[in-house]
Amino acid sequence: MKNIYPNIYQNSPKNLNKAKNFLKKNMIIAVPTETVYGLAGNAYSYNAIKKIYSLKKRPKKNPLIIHYDNLKKLKKDAYINDDFLKLYKKFCPGPLTFILKKRKDSKISSLANANLNTLAVRFPGHRIAKKLLKKLSFPLAMPSANMSSALSPINALDVIDEFGKNINFIIDGGKSKIGLESTVINLVKDIRITRPGAINKKDLSKVLGKKISTIKKVSKIYSPGMLKKHYSPGIPIALNCKTAGNKDAFIVFGKKYKRGKNIFNLSYKGNLKEAGKNLYKTMRKIKNLNFKKIRVVKIPNKDIGIAINDRLIKASNK
Ligand code: TXA
Ligand code: MG
Repeated sequence: MKNIYPNIYQNSPKNLNKAKNFLKKNMIIAVPTETVYGLAGNAYSYNAIKKIYSLKKRPKKNPLIIHYDNLKKLKKDAYINDDFLKLYKKFCPGPLTFILKKRKDSKISSLANANLNTLAVRFPGHRIAKKLLKKLSFPLAMPSANMSSALSPINALDVIDEFGKNINFIIDGGKSKIGLESTVINLVKDIRITRPGAINKKDLSKVLGKKISTIKKVSKIYSPGMLKKHYSPGIPIALNCKTAGNKDAFIVFGKKYKRGKNIFNLSYKGNLKEAGKNLYKTMRKIKNLNFKKIRVVKIPNKDIGIAINDRLIKASNK
């Protein structure tokens, strides 16, 4: 069969070596992770980081997450502490990002962390991301592979939907298992969750043996990227709706809703994990079907439902 997407590459040793060579030349590629697909570049290279911001049209004040495959490599760039180690042992590799203090002698381009004295770091769990990182002598700066403020991609075709031919190397790693971005926990000074995700506050405070706060009012220091509209399909979204007209896309959850051309069920079974996995896929489908309005039912605000609601609220911001 002819490959109609010449920029999508299957997972093979040959293609991973190709990916490595692209990255060594400070070129940008798309890499699958268990949360969402990322746009990867050499975190030590100013030029690579500049390309990431420019491709995504991302404001330079919104720092990137740096990805590693082991602790030894991380220690060259950030200071770790006991709380970090407890969480690392329990959840890594996995969908958790830590904000740590950046080492003064770190080689990470300061453009990647928006000139802050902190660094966001993550150990992705996807087998392809892990394999690729292992081959490299530098960590990868890797924001989600979407245009700034748009929907995150959860498969290789979504990356093409976002960037077309502007990304010429996408590694196909199937559908992202989780489908929502990693939880971000700030461990500098007081402990705070600045972005909810699959690993939630309860899981984290159990391991740490202490209470954790979630930021309500976003401040510049905690997460510069959280200030504005985000995760958006570019269509007005109304939340906590009970009904919707035939012309509106209606996003529902659970078996009490009927099926219909404009009705999109995140999970018939009423399973929040499944709903999380389907959220971006559903919104991207609705966008591409040219609906003009989205109405969403109330989603239970527990477990990963907290992360789903966080993304829905930000997507509905005008
Ligand atoms: O699941 C994920 O984390 C995905 C995959 C590809 O790993 N990546 C991702 O990256 O979601 P991005 O760039 O879309 O989101 C990064 C978030 C932003 O909200 C940003 O503001 C925050 O992390 N962040 C990065 N560096 C920070 C820092 N030094 N201090 C506070 N927040 C930071
Ligand atoms: Mg993002």
